[in-house]
Amino acid sequence: MKPFPLPLPHGMSAETFLAQYWQKKPLLIKAAFPGFKTPLLPDEIAGMACEEGVESRLILERDGDTKWQLSHGPFDEAIFPELPESHWTLLIQEVHKYVPELAQLLESFRFIPNWRIDDVMVSYSPLDGSVGPHVDQYDVFLLQGLGRKRWQISTAEVCHGDLIAGIDLQILSHFEAEQCWELEEGDMLYLPPGVIHHGVALGDGLTYSIGFRAPAECDLITSFIDYLAEEQRLSVKHYRDPGLSFQQHPGEISAVSLQRVRDIINSIPVNDDDLARWFGQVVTESKSDERVEPNAKALSIDAFVKRFRQGEALFRCELSRFACIEQRSATLLFVAGTLTTLSSEMKRAVYLLCDQRMHIATEWAVLLDSPDNAALLCRLYNEGHLYFDND
Ligand code: SIN
Ligand code: CO
Repeated sequence: MKPFPLPLPHGMSAETFLAQYWQKKPLLIKAAFPGFKTPLLPDEIAGMACEEGVESRLILERDGDTKWQLSHGPFDEAIFPELPESHWTLLIQEVHKYVPELAQLLESFRFIPNWRIDDVMVSYSPLDGSVGPHVDQYDVFLLQGLGRKRWQISTAEVCHGDLIAGIDLQILSHFEAEQCWELEEGDMLYLPPGVIHHGVALGDGLTYSIGFRAPAECDLITSFIDYLAEEQRLSVKHYRDPGLSFQQHPGEISAVSLQRVRDIINSIPVNDDDLARWFGQVVTESKSDERVEPNAKALSIDAFVKRFRQGEALFRCELSRFACIEQRSATLLFVAGTLTTLSSEMKRAVYLLCDQRMHIATEWAVLLDSPDNAALLCRLYNEGHLYFDND
């Protein structure tokens, strides 16, 4: 497949970006996507906001019951003609799941591991529309899709008391901009977590936010412990204290008892196998209401290979996340939270499968000669995780 040009400033390598900017400092990328044409139009965004199952939000800066009023979709289409001329923003989450061009846009961010990518969100705002000055806890690339937007940023620390009280949004009551840029279609701004940003539309416009996943450490810890318990990896022995010594105050929990408890906690087993299996499964899990349906027109392996070889492009269903881990002599493939342990002979096929969203037979030519590889692709196709363009 043709390599996707990096959406980085001319001459900047992925390595330079990662070393100097990623998680460190903002970067304005003029013409990151030269001649960018938005695959979504404002009317389509309004239509999506009326659909059940699509996560949408409307933020009214001035004309709601309170300043900065937040409402969640799905919305009635009758609300749109009633909206004011300015000062509001409509946001739709996970648009890459509904718009294949936006899923393909994510291929331009291959310099960041797939599992770190969360979603593409789109915002539509008329003149002066904004979501207010705020900080996010994750990295984001803000791509101007239509119209122009003014972004002001600050790297100052944010304290809880800086937030406007009594609203459902975490908006800062004030901030002093350190830098200000006007982004045009195809321009992009990279922001690491924790940078205050405030984007204001200079007319009707769309912004795509390519957002990254940053699981909270407490969630990772509790999820791992749950996994260990389910896999029966945790000790079922009971607390014992054969060396118990007499204590003057029976009401006290002694330091020695606490040390015994600490030893139990410290003995939680964290081995490489469990860590890999648990993490691969949790980061590829689909949302509970988003599992793919098995393909109604299941194919035999021969029929599948024939179609693929005839030139039809094969795509990843965006509801299914793919990831792989190489572990000793095995290749672990995770698709939508399910692990398949494969032999290391299938490593090249599995890596190709997980690296790309779109596959063409010429890249799989030799790999498809292996019956195991062909069977794997066919199974994932029949399960609905892959689909042909013409399906
Ligand atoms: C916007 O699109 O205006 C808001 C996106 C963000 O701040 O994360
Ligand atoms: Co933000």
